[in-house]
Amino acid sequence: MPRKILVTSALPYANGPLHFGHLLEAVQTDIWARFQRMQGNDCLYVCAEDAHGTPVMIKAQAEGITPEALIARITEEHRRDYREFLIGHDQFHTTHSIENREITNLLYERVRAGGHITTRSVRQAYDEKAGMFLPDRYVKGGCPRCGTPDQYGDSCESCGATYSPADLKNPISMVSGTPPVWRESEHYFFRLGHFAAVLQQWLQTGARQPQVRAKLAEWFEAGLNDWDISRDKPYFGFEIPGAPGKYFYVWFDAPIGYLGSFRALCNERGLDFDEYWNPQSHAEVYHFIGKDISYFHNLFWPAVLHGGGMRMPTGVFVHGFLTVNGGKMSKSRGTFITARRYLDLLPPEPLRYYFAGKLGAGIDDMDLNLDDFVARVNSDLVGKLVNIASRCAGFIARGGGRLADALPDAVLYAEFANKRDELARQFEAREFSSAIREIMLLADRANQYVDAHKPWALAKDPARSAEVLAVCTQGVNLFRVLMTYLAPVLPQMACNAAKFLGDPLSDWNAVVKPLLGTPLGTYEPLATRLDPKVVATLIDSEEVPAAAPPGKATTPKAPAIAASAAAVTAAATPTTIDIKDFAKLDLRIARVIAATQVEGSDKLLQLTLDLGGTQRNVFSGISGAYQPDQLVGRHVLMVANLAPRKMRFGVSEGMVLCASGAGPGLFLLSPDSGAEAGMSVT
Ligand code: MSP
Ligand code: ZN
Repeated sequence: MPRKILVTSALPYANGPLHFGHLLEAVQTDIWARFQRMQGNDCLYVCAEDAHGTPVMIKAQAEGITPEALIARITEEHRRDYREFLIGHDQFHTTHSIENREITNLLYERVRAGGHITTRSVRQAYDEKAGMFLPDRYVKGGCPRCGTPDQYGDSCESCGATYSPADLKNPISMVSGTPPVWRESEHYFFRLGHFAAVLQQWLQTGARQPQVRAKLAEWFEAGLNDWDISRDKPYFGFEIPGAPGKYFYVWFDAPIGYLGSFRALCNERGLDFDEYWNPQSHAEVYHFIGKDISYFHNLFWPAVLHGGGMRMPTGVFVHGFLTVNGGKMSKSRGTFITARRYLDLLPPEPLRYYFAGKLGAGIDDMDLNLDDFVARVNSDLVGKLVNIASRCAGFIARGGGRLADALPDAVLYAEFANKRDELARQFEAREFSSAIREIMLLADRANQYVDAHKPWALAKDPARSAEVLAVCTQGVNLFRVLMTYLAPVLPQMACNAAKFLGDPLSDWNAVVKPLLGTPLGTYEPLATRLDPKVVATLIDSEEVPAAAPPGKATTPKAPAIAASAAAVTAAATPTTIDIKDFAKLDLRIARVIAATQVEGSDKLLQLTLDLGGTQRNVFSGISGAYQPDQLVGRHVLMVANLAPRKMRFGVSEGMVLCASGAGPGLFLLSPDSGAEAGMSVT
């Protein structure tokens, strides 16, 4: 029986763009959901815009538009960013919806009727000029403990003290810049303590992350306080029924937004909402969240659900925070990378792959290091994974375009296919990084197989064409297994590979049987190398000082530095080139996979070069100096971005580099051992 599963990611706030932290979470959820579907489970993935609250209201005011217009615009941006990152939401709704209002009112009525709401008066900062109560974060002043000026009303960034805005020295409203006054107003509280026993019990169910369990124990120890769920007008949100001028606090209706979004999906698809949310439901519900919002999801939210007569989540999956180049993402350091900035420069799948390689089931923080990102993607995806297919595809095409009818090494194939259960357990347990490691070990084995059987060498002997086909059929089949395992992470690549293979790659367990005797589609390169120069520009360098501190080697990754270097060289003698001219050369390591004498020419050899995933045809005038056979398997240096040149014998797609002097000799340049095809030369 397929499992019925509903998953969610936390709802992004509607007052800013999606950034890498949001993406990490969405990618984690999406991989898990896609994996579940490949297992034949029925897995729905919903999310929504978190539209309410003071920040949205104030941002809209500042832009001179209505909050509705603001959230409409930002929701559209978020939707597009998620879509381009291949996040397969079944529904991306908004908390400012009819569905959400109805369910919020329903749950509130039920918890109120159950005696879980109480009211009392609260003293709060009030901005007389703006005519509004101020959230703690909208009051700034001197820290009551250490005196550091300009601290938020809840905590001090300098000494870590926590306090209330009333304790600040010389408080100022950030809305109008005037000093606030203190006013009383009636607030509505949710009596969380009523649910202590239920929550304790719920927390024993399912597999909880140990660090989360420890944190929750601390919170229980500290006691479960009443939770203030109301805000005074003006506020952007839902008015509380029977309480004019009072609104639900954004965090009350935000998790209910999961239900609102799911309800909208049910309406669209004719699904049964209650089947998922009644207290006896057999469906599984999981929330993917960051560790900063664990209290809301592990205490308030299940309590509200329970008090409202609905089932509680099956699990809450908490992840750690993403740091960039070893530090907290920061606008001033330029490491606050938005989804849009990335998409303007690079394709989505390398980042999905990198995140997958970092994600485990724990709540430790993860670091995105840009150099590591480039190295990983180029070595794993291009150098290993795609390399298997690209090295075999051409030979099969030339041999009739159809896979052989049997595998030459069925044992090796079975070894790959038999990994499926272990890998499935790892995906299920959200141990993506372990799964990726295993898959890449298999990719190494597949490449070793192709290396050992050298189809390019066999191909020179027409009598051995059946062997060539057999070896390449084996290679393509190993690739198919790996691509199936990676399909949740790389859905677009899997889709392109599926077209090439003529096989959907949508069923995890279909790897049991190899593909044999079937025609292949045309092979198109499945991934291209990341250019480190482009990746470096992800970090916004505006804040980087033009002059690097002495003694610290800086690569010219920051345009600010590159620009100043260019300005210096512009004044130099005309025989030098500046770094930008040099950067135009795409110098690469290439591996010669085939070399033949060109008929009708006594100078030229025709070389087939492997650039680590793509192949190039190059005519090179080295026939006098090298025998074709000496070259196969050798690494050479090539100019990879030379415009293709049409020659009498065909098109030459690049140039290999040789040393020459006054005498007749020509000497190919080679890298030191260890260099791999596709590496760039800088
Ligand atoms: N709107 C609330 C969530 C409501 S859910 C009912 C919110 N929004 S948020 O935009 O601030 O964060 C959305 C999610 O992104 C949260 O799970 C949060 O933990 C996650 N991340 C935000 N920054 C992050 C990192 N730097 N790294 C990883 N995830 C982080 O909270
Ligand atoms: Zn302080």
